[in-house]
Amino acid sequence: MSRIEKALAKAASERKVRKRGVLYKQESQKAWVTSKQISIDHSKVSKGIVTLLEPSSIHAEQFRNLRTHILSTGEDKSHRLFLITSSVKGEGKTTVAINLAISIAQSIEETVLLVDCDLRLPMVHTMLGLDVKDGLADYLSNDIEFSDLLYKTDIGKLTVLGAGNPPSNPSELIGSEKMETLLKEIKSRYDNRYIIIDSPPLLPITDSNILGSIVDSIILVVQAGQTPKDTVNQALSFIGDKADIMGILLNNVEKTSEGYYYKYDYSYPK
Ligand SMILES: Nc1ncnc2c1ncn2[C@@H]1O[C@H](COP(=O)(O)OP(=O)(O)OP(=O)(O)O)[C@@H](O)[C@H]1O
Ligand SMILES: [Mg+2]
Repeated sequence: MSRIEKALAKAASERKVRKRGVLYKQESQKAWVTSKQISIDHSKVSKGIVTLLEPSSIHAEQFRNLRTHILSTGEDKSHRLFLITSSVKGEGKTTVAINLAISIAQSIEETVLLVDCDLRLPMVHTMLGLDVKDGLADYLSNDIEFSDLLYKTDIGKLTVLGAGNPPSNPSELIGSEKMETLLKEIKSRYDNRYIIIDSPPLLPITDSNILGSIVDSIILVVQAGQTPKDTVNQALSFIGDKADIMGILLNNVEKTSEGYYYKYDYSYPK
């Protein structure tokens, strides 16, 4: 059994334990406090980040609808750690992860940690126009204080953890015990917060499958009208019962006379 297969099997068995409510009942630790404050320059933010750039648009409203659903399921604290992934690349994961995190952070009470777990093609900091170099990969490969990598933004109560400097062994880092421990610790230290994780696509890369069995729930982004049904089914069976799929978000781009129209639909597989 390879290291990655072992990690998957271990995470799957622990997931069963967690479902019985045993895991995470460790002694509650204090939340990490970061002194790093960063302000977001709207002129550098990618135009797909509608919750920030066009908050009164219908597109931003669609994210608020998804937020309402997430906040209602997150009340009991067992559904607060979400992985945003997709079958193949370019379906809109990062756009959705950022918009969702901002949308939750814009609500009065909720604090959010947005984590970029796409160590191969990190785009969270670029799409937010942030000049942040160090991040998750540096924490996983070196002895670095975790709180030094967290950036508190000026968007509501949104903190960002970037992917960090590109490592040569991304799958090993994501499948490492240090990563698993970190996610559990994040969840226990941030038990009153929402954690949104951006990740690579499921089918070509194993990382999201590993992460999927550690998080509370997965939101699968599907590019409507583009991604073949068989590909989506393949991704769903790849996840299998190792993880909980909260829903499928159909990311669609409709061309209208005024230009491109963002449309997000949310559906539930069960
Ligand atoms: N609904 C949408 N309408 C128009 N453009 C979109 C929409 N969603 C995403 N995009 C654009 O499509 C491109 C890919 O989106 P994004 O980077 O979010 O996808 P991804 O799934 O994270 O990609 P990757 O697999 O490379 O990480 C980006 O340029 C983004 O701005
Ligand atoms: Mg991405």
